[in-house]
Amino acid sequence: MILVTGGAGFIGANFVLQWLREVGEPVVNLDKLTYAGNLGNLAEVVDDPRHIFVRGDIADHRLVRELLGQYRPRAVVHFAAESHVDRSIHGPEDFIQTNIVGTFRLLDEVRAYWEGLKGAERDRFRFLHVSTDEVYGSLGPADPAFSETTPYAPNSPYSASKAASDHLVRAYHHTYGLPTLTTNCSNNYGPYQFPEKLIPLMILNGLTGQPLPVYGDGLNVRDWLYVEDHCAAIRRVLEDGRVGETYNIGGECEKTNIDVVKTICAILDELHPSRRPHAALIKYVQDRPGHDRRYAMDTRKIRAELGWAPKETFETGLRKTVDWYIAHRDWVDGVTTGAYRQWIEQNYGNR
Ligand code: NAD
Ligand code: DAU
Repeated sequence: MILVTGGAGFIGANFVLQWLREVGEPVVNLDKLTYAGNLGNLAEVVDDPRHIFVRGDIADHRLVRELLGQYRPRAVVHFAAESHVDRSIHGPEDFIQTNIVGTFRLLDEVRAYWEGLKGAERDRFRFLHVSTDEVYGSLGPADPAFSETTPYAPNSPYSASKAASDHLVRAYHHTYGLPTLTTNCSNNYGPYQFPEKLIPLMILNGLTGQPLPVYGDGLNVRDWLYVEDHCAAIRRVLEDGRVGETYNIGGECEKTNIDVVKTICAILDELHPSRRPHAALIKYVQDRPGHDRRYAMDTRKIRAELGWAPKETFETGLRKTVDWYIAHRDWVDGVTTGAYRQWIEQNYGNR
């Protein structure tokens, strides 16, 4: 049994589905179901007895203690977070609460649980913390990619809160010996991503003929990785990563935002010709405050130590993603019309 937090979100849900498909070990999935959490992401496993869903907050230490005591997981994989940079700029408080206070409470309960384990159970226990490349700050055009030893220099409330959580995880290893692993990954894309993030927003606006808002000059650079490749990397780190270490994960696939948007437009022109040319919808808009210019990841450590490499290229992964959004309009309607929120409140109450 493993305990996953945030397993109804974009990456967490992809992880749970891949885990049940390829590993098969039961999962307890603790998720608060914020606006970003969606049980529709887990429809495939709704009747699967290996998946136990619990709606709740990682900051609720009593609930976390109860779940650890009841299910006795051999590992915790921690995805739960507030994840959107723009939201952190408009309202940082939730980010401080979940990403910092929530991670602290979770860590503290996990430490107590781990300290109570004995022998082989204690030796094999792992706490894997899922984090981001944004903790390293912003690169200039000629700077080398971020490595695991790049000093932290977070620039947004989101990345500052993730950096704080990474430091807490590090401290729990160094101070208490908790067997932690931290992964720092670049931008993910793929199925089930909430349409506030660049790629799904552009796909859906393109499909419905709405403007494609590009921040600033469109020349900010991100490194892109297909979500299933990220999930496979997390599994490799969980299996064989060295305790106390951090691992960078990325696609070594740097793109300017405008290139990403134009590539999506070209795919849409082909798959959805009635609205050609989609690039006519591109609209340059005001820049994000404090917008990091460039991220790039040096992934030599995970590739050399754990033999991980991404399977998808940007071209294959992006095409799969556009196909998925076209084929899943019901999912899109559910997350965009508010129907899904109503369903949650009816079925889970307004916690
Ligand atoms: P997401 O916003 O899609 O999902 C977050 C999930 O966490 C949601 O299901 C939400 O309901 C849940 N959650 C939020 N607060 C909670 C709380 N207090 N208690 C329990 N559950 C809570 O995020 P994502 O894009 O899937 O990211 C998952 C993790 O990966 C985050 O930690 C993020 O920082 C990290 N990450 C994301 C990316 C990316 O490109 N999306 C890249 C690198 C790292
Ligand atoms: O780098 C990893 C991070 O990637 C994760 O830690 C975050 O959780 C995740 O949200 C993502 O952060 P970004 O800020 O890079 O992703 P976002 O999709 O919001 O934006 C990607 C780039 O596109 C960024 O340079 C801002 C730009 N952008 C974004 C939106 C939503 C636009 O130009 N227009 C837009 O409408």
